[in-house]
Formats: sequence, C-alpha cells, structure tokens
Amino acid sequence: MIGFFGRGWAAALCFAMMWAEVLRAVSSASGVEAIIATSTLLTPDKARARVDTLRREIAHHDELYYKKSAPEISDAAYDRLKRELAALEKGFPAAATGDSPSDSLGDDRTGAFPLYRHRERMLSLDKSYSEADLRGFYARLTKQLGRADLVYVVEPKFDGLAVSVTYQKGKLVRAVTRGNGLEGDDVTANARTIRALPRELRATAPDGSANPLPDVIELRGEIYLPLAEFTRINREREAAGEATFAHPRNLAAGTLKQLDPREVAERKLAIVFYGWGACAPITALPATQREFHARVRAWGLPGLENFSTARTADEIWSAVQAFDRSRPQLAFPVDGAVVKLDSVPLRNEVGATEHAPRWAMAYKFSPDRAETQLLAITVQVGRTGLLTPVAELAPVRLAGSTIARASLHNRAEIARSDIRVGDFVYVEKAGEIIPAIVGVNVARRSATSHVFVFPTQCPACQTAVVQASAEVAVRCPNIDCPAQLTRRFQHFVSDAAVDIEGFGPALIDTLVVRGRIKTIPDLYRLRLEDLLALNGVAAKSADRLLAALDRSKHVELWRVIYGLGLPQIGSVSAKALARKFGNLDALVVARPEDFPATLRATTIAGVVAYFKEPKNRAVVTDLLALGVQPTAPVATSTIFAGKIFVLTGTLPNLTRAQAEGKILAAGGKVSGSVSRKTDYVLAGEGSGAKLEAARTLGVAVIEETRLLEMLEEN
Ligand code: IVH
Repeated sequence: MIGFFGRGWAAALCFAMMWAEVLRAVSSASGVEAIIATSTLLTPDKARARVDTLRREIAHHDELYYKKSAPEISDAAYDRLKRELAALEKGFPAAATGDSPSDSLGDDRTGAFPLYRHRERMLSLDKSYSEADLRGFYARLTKQLGRADLVYVVEPKFDGLAVSVTYQKGKLVRAVTRGNGLEGDDVTANARTIRALPRELRATAPDGSANPLPDVIELRGEIYLPLAEFTRINREREAAGEATFAHPRNLAAGTLKQLDPREVAERKLAIVFYGWGACAPITALPATQREFHARVRAWGLPGLENFSTARTADEIWSAVQAFDRSRPQLAFPVDGAVVKLDSVPLRNEVGATEHAPRWAMAYKFSPDRAETQLLAITVQVGRTGLLTPVAELAPVRLAGSTIARASLHNRAEIARSDIRVGDFVYVEKAGEIIPAIVGVNVARRSATSHVFVFPTQCPACQTAVVQASAEVAVRCPNIDCPAQLTRRFQHFVSDAAVDIEGFGPALIDTLVVRGRIKTIPDLYRLRLEDLLALNGVAAKSADRLLAALDRSKHVELWRVIYGLGLPQIGSVSAKALARKFGNLDALVVARPEDFPATLRATTIAGVVAYFKEPKNRAVVTDLLALGVQPTAPVATSTIFAGKIFVLTGTLPNLTRAQAEGKILAAGGKVSGSVSRKTDYVLAGEGSGAKLEAARTLGVAVIEETRLLEMLEEN
C-alpha cells in the first residue's frame, strides 16, 4: 500500500479525490447532510489519523451506549461514524490494522450482573440506509439461492434492548441480554417484572388444539419502553423538577440494568419476540418466520402483530415505506424495518457472517431532521430549582409539527457539543417525541455566533446557583424563589394533578408576583375581592374560579398527594400511597415500615423527611382546615371493568379529573395514548391527534353525553 502511494502525489491525490467522493456518498446515504466533514482530501497519513480518531470516538460512544445507556449522539450520527470508518478501512487497509469496532457487535455487559453464556450466539443485523441497499440485499439472495420465488417478511425494528429468554419445558428460567453475543448479563429477576412476559407457556392453543412445548428454547426479542410510558415518566420527572430522558431506548436499557427489580417494576417495560436461538428438540422449530409468529401468539407470548409479507424487491420496498409512514401512529419506539427470508431451510442454506445472518437486513429509517438557527438559550427554573437550558429556535417544520424549542439538557451538554448562540443546528425527533439538537452545521457558523455563558445566578431570584458535587445539574437553592413557587402551583392545579380549571400559568404568575399565594393552602384562601383586584379578571370569571376551587376540594386523594410535589412521588407512587393510607393524616404521620412495599427505600425516606418539616405538615393541616377533603378511590360499579379509555379535548361539563373519576369508579382504566387496546376515546372540543389516531385504528369515539348515558344505563 505504501508503495502504491509512493508512486507520486498525483496518484495519491487522484485516489484521495476518489475517496472524497466515496465518503461523500457514504455520508449522504441516509439522506441527511453529514455533520462530520468527510469530503476533505485524504492522504494515507490523514486516513490513518482519521481511522484512529474514529475508532476512539466509536469506542467512547459504544461505552456510553451499551454500558451506561446514556449516549451523547444520535443513532444516525453514530451510524455515520461507523460507516465512515468501514469505508476508510476498506479504502486504506494499511491504515486499518488491529481490531476494528466497525464490525463489532457492541457489548452491553455491565459487570453488575452474573454473566450467562447463550446456548447459541446472538448475532446482530446488517443495516441498510437506502432503497438501493435493500434492492442489493434482495438481488444477492436471489442470486445465492438461484431462485426468484422467495418469500420475505417485513417486520418493525423495535428500538430497545435485545434479550434472550429461555423456557424449559414451558417454564421461564432465564433472561439474558445480548452482551458480547456469546455471553450477556443475567437480568432474569428484572425481566420477571414485565407483566406481558408469561412465567409459563400455554401448552394448549386458544382454539383447544395441542401446542407442543420444546424441552428448551431460547426466544430472542427486544425489551422496550412503550411511548406512552416514556411520556408519562418524562412528564412526571419534569413535574418533579428532575432531568428528562432523551430517548425511550436508553431509558429501557437503563431501567433493565437497575439492580433493584422494584425500581424496574415502577417503569412498565414491555417485550416482543421476533426470533429464536437454540431449541431442543430441533424438530420443534418452526419452518417459517410466519409460523414462528403464530406459535409465539399460541404460547401466550407478546408477538409481532404488524408484519407483512413481500415477494419482490418492489413489494419489499413498498412494505418498508408503508411502515415508515405509519410510524407516527405506533405505540412503541421503532428505528427501522427488518426484512427476513421467511423459509428457515433456505436461511440455513445462506448462513451468516461473523456478526449477522445473510438472510436478514435491517433498514434504518432516516430520523426526522431539520436544520434551523439557534436564536437564543433561555434557562428555566423548575419546581425543585433545577435550571434547564432551553434552545429557542427559528421555527421549523419537523415530522408534522412546528418546532421552536428544544431541550439542551444541562450545562455540561452545551459545553461538550460546543453549540453557540447564532449557530445553525440540526434538530431531530428522538424516539418520535422530544425534539433534540443533534449537531451543529459548523460550515454555517458566522462571526456573530457566540458561546453561551451559563448563569451563575438564578434568572428568577438572582440567588447564586449551586451544583452538587456528584451531579451535573445546577440548582437555585432558594425555596422561596418565585419561579419555583410558580412551578409548584402550576403542578398542583394542572390537570394531571388536582385539576383546578381556569388557573392558567399567567394567573398563577400574577398571584405569585403579587404575593397573594405563597403556599398551596393560600389558593383556598383566595376571596372574590382578591381575584377581582387582578387585571383582566371579571366578576363572572372570578365566580368560576372560586367554584373550580370549591369543586377541587373533593378530588381523589392521589391527586392531592401527587399535587403536593413530594420528592420522587409521581402519579403511580401517589396512587399507591392513596391506596395504602386512605387519607392525608395517616400519610403525614406514617413510619417507613407503614409504606407500600412497591416504593424504594430512598423514596420512602424522602417522604418521611418531607413530613418531618413543620412547614410541610402545616400545608396538610391547613388544607384540611380549609375544607379539602379528598376521596379515596373505590370502584363503585364494574360496568367498565377491563375497559380502557383515553381522554382528549375539553369536555362541555366535566373536568378531566371528574370524567376520569367516574370512569375509575365504574372499574375502567384511563390511559394516556390511543392504541389498538383502547376501548373508547372520550373526545371533547379541540381533540386533535388522539382523535385522529382513534379513527385510524377504528377505536370507538364517544362524547361526554354518551359517557353519562352509559353510566346511567347501568
Ligand atoms: S432479528 C439474528 N428482528 O435490532 C438476527 N432484530 O440492530 C436477530 N431488533 O440485535 C435479530 N427488532 O435487538 C430482529 N424485528 C426484529 C427486530 C430486531 C429489533 C433489534 C435486535 C437486533 C438489532 C440489530
């Protein structure tokens, strides 16, 4: 190789220019502009240096992704690094000696769990990023098998964490992560918290026919976090003043790798099966992927529902595209589609490479991405004083909505990614939900772009900010800070908590700034004249506000507990506390041993410490003295037993909390997002995406009157 380059700079330059082209093609294959400039002319020395840099970077990102479940860059950016490295290693073999991460499987072993060796290796998938790549896969298999009558299955590519679950004589015995492909972390105790994962397989199919169970089978699947659960967790963390998670996959992986299964159980992980490893007897294996899916369902396991079959390259491509289009309606995180040869005997014929089968190909969807200008960085103060930087963007369309803000997570993140105010940045929708800034278009950086200086004082009360030594988070330590107060009130009145109608952010802000409300009971001390004294509050609306306050005195207990903003208490824990204690008095004096077993010791200690504070006890005493009498939820009828409702829009008479209360009292459940499992969508004025999703999925849509009729009919 050296000799080849030694022939003169002209040859080298010509070769380097060719490489510039190849790399450009590689980096634009996913349809997005490369963040890393790969089109510079490359000499062998530069190639070697770049290979070294890429290997270091990839190793660093692998460590963050697999071991810490906390990646710093998007999947697309990571994939680009890997593709650039693979292309360089191919073009400059001399620069590419030693082990390369470009063809490694990754390694998720953390050292915190016992290791378990898979009976059969867990491979990864080859990835494609373009129609041409996919057609290439089809052509290769057609040629290799010498026939064009092949059947393919196109499946969603779930974005979670690969696991191998072993059933012995139909009994769940072990769940192991992929690890390095040969051995992985034994996470059985944690996986057992997944409700949909049966401890025993069904030996009889629902139609009564025999459903043979192998002596032992390793089932391969993905543990993931449903999007509604991801949103719930983030919403609650936001309300609790904690940093939010950027991606459902990292949260799923981080959750599964928790050491305490009780913590795992608090987040509702899900699982889906898409393949198998070892199986004895071997005759128990299905002959096709379609048969596998049918068998998974018959065994009572969560299987894939939305797969399709295809017979030609055109059909494969349209199935992949159709699936890409349906992404916004999906209730789980996906990052692509997987195309698999259906026939198992033919799979055995084509075999596998070191790290992936030849009979399957993943197609990674390009993330929804836009480029826009970062106009400013503002800093928000949360309920617990957490300072969160927010990117204020020039509005840009992204995946069907207009994005004008994105979270920048924390101070360290801004410094690490060297994002400057005035820069043109790339915004992506991570996990289809939260817009995130994934990179800077350095080529468009102008002289006026400037480094953001993180405030050393709280932007709301000017108190010097503090940073706990072990945390990246920066906080305002002043508990009387008006921004924190406002947030605390906003949380209490929000529809997720006590749901007091009419108390919007502006009204709360005015009441705080004027010193009319300092503690939560002050809300119930507001008199007509206090409200009338505010600009823009007319007599009629003042009456309405007082009536709303009155009504809110009798909401369910868990809403008040949640609304108080106890440390680490989200709505799920608040419900557990309400069920356990039945009233506020009992909660205030509870000892650690009285708490529900589902709560973590640190959470319990936090609540006990909270109520040791005389100030916090006084809040509860005052609320009770002011007539707040929350009700413990008891199902009074069962007409909605097992029925799942989703609420959307504003109802004509009932508040959201009242409607929810009625549904719960009749034995029904209320969920945050529409899926095939939803029975009814209760829609009011201004219903948007949820109503549309209901129509797409054929879910019954009812109005308030119908809900009341159904309750009365009972
Ligand atoms: S098949 C031997 N099917 O994607 C090949 N994998 O990037 C086994 N994944 O490691 C994989 N959805 O964790 C397959 N429908 C699906 C999948 C899927 C998600 C994951 C899996 C795999 C990774 C490769």
